[in-house]
Amino acid sequence: MARIGLMGCGTVATYGHLPAIATTEGLTLAAVFDPSPAAVEAAAAKYGVPGFTDPEAFFAVGMDGVSITSPAPYHAENAAAAARHGVHVLCEKPLGTDDTEIAGMIRTADAAGTMLFTAFDYRFSPISQTIYRLVREGAVGEVRSLRLIYIWNCHGKYATVDGRRVLQARRAARMDEGGPMVDCGVHQIDLARWWTGSEVVRWSSAGAWVDEFAAPDHLYLHMDHANGVHTMVELSYSYNHTSAEASPHFTYELIGTEGVIRFDREAGLFEVRNTRGTEILPTAPEKNFAGMYVAFAEALARGGSDVLPTGRDGLEATRLARGATDAVMAARLAGV
Ligand SMILES: NC(=O)c1ccc[n+]([C@@H]2O[C@H](COP(=O)([O-])OP(=O)(O)OC[C@H]3O[C@@H](n4cnc5c(N)ncnc54)[C@H](O)[C@@H]3O)[C@@H](O)[C@H]2O)c1
Repeated sequence: MARIGLMGCGTVATYGHLPAIATTEGLTLAAVFDPSPAAVEAAAAKYGVPGFTDPEAFFAVGMDGVSITSPAPYHAENAAAAARHGVHVLCEKPLGTDDTEIAGMIRTADAAGTMLFTAFDYRFSPISQTIYRLVREGAVGEVRSLRLIYIWNCHGKYATVDGRRVLQARRAARMDEGGPMVDCGVHQIDLARWWTGSEVVRWSSAGAWVDEFAAPDHLYLHMDHANGVHTMVELSYSYNHTSAEASPHFTYELIGTEGVIRFDREAGLFEVRNTRGTEILPTAPEKNFAGMYVAFAEALARGGSDVLPTGRDGLEATRLARGATDAVMAARLAGV
């Protein structure tokens, strides 16, 4: 039984990581850490484990692996602490704030002899797994073009606190950390690299400011893969960000020489159209924390993994997302 600690008892830990750790065979939750006493106490009480606001006391409990679910600016310091204690890491995306920082995280883990995985849980969704298989089976011939779209409001621009309308803190924090491509688009970039099995050799980006943060809130990234496939990723955190009723788009389309694979989360549609006809496939959520933790349990038992996204996968996704965002910001500053 592998003992798992968790650092960062916030939203994604509460709905995704903690329930998955608690229910995965071969894993047991050993302790939780958060600098916020209220957050750590809530998680510790719910799961009946010790909770700490001091990282040294947290690691002293003893554990094999740690899940890092703090905001991105703290991932590197949390991962460095894990490496110092010889603990393997599964870290939320974006793995770090930029590729230089992530390269340092990879070096630190390598020097400590510990494993560092990126928690790209979208890869473990039955949808993504089926697309991976269909591409390899040639279900739509040779895939030549991908359109991966996630435009939504990131829970809305405003929240109501004590009857007053205030800026919604979580969305504001994600915008300050780089915006939608850096925070969420890394999932789509990772899927494109994984599905095509091909690295990105050229990219360009364009974007818009619907809101007023430093980073663009609506971004388009075009990527050419080494095998000739082209991927377009469109991400927004300002699509209906002030509307009373939000309406997101979340779609994957893989266009091949003999048809199209299409997933539309909002429409509940997953289908393959090809020369033989149309096959409707079972739909599923785009995330799968439980599946990711099965893979983490296996990695801890075996001392390695062929399926968990690596530190390098996390680095590539952040390099492209950050590059795309920075290029658009630089063009705006230059008045281009
Ligand atoms: N994979 C997904 O589907 C998914 C979904 C949402 C968020 N995320 C990612 O998960 C991470 C956390 O997002 P969230 O929405 O849960 O944020 P959140 O703000 O709701 O929670 C973050 C928690 O981390 C704590 N924290 C702050 N500083 C810390 C530190 N130094 N060490 C440890 N914990 C610290 C905060 O007190 C808070 O409890 C981000 O990197 C985000 O991009 C992933």
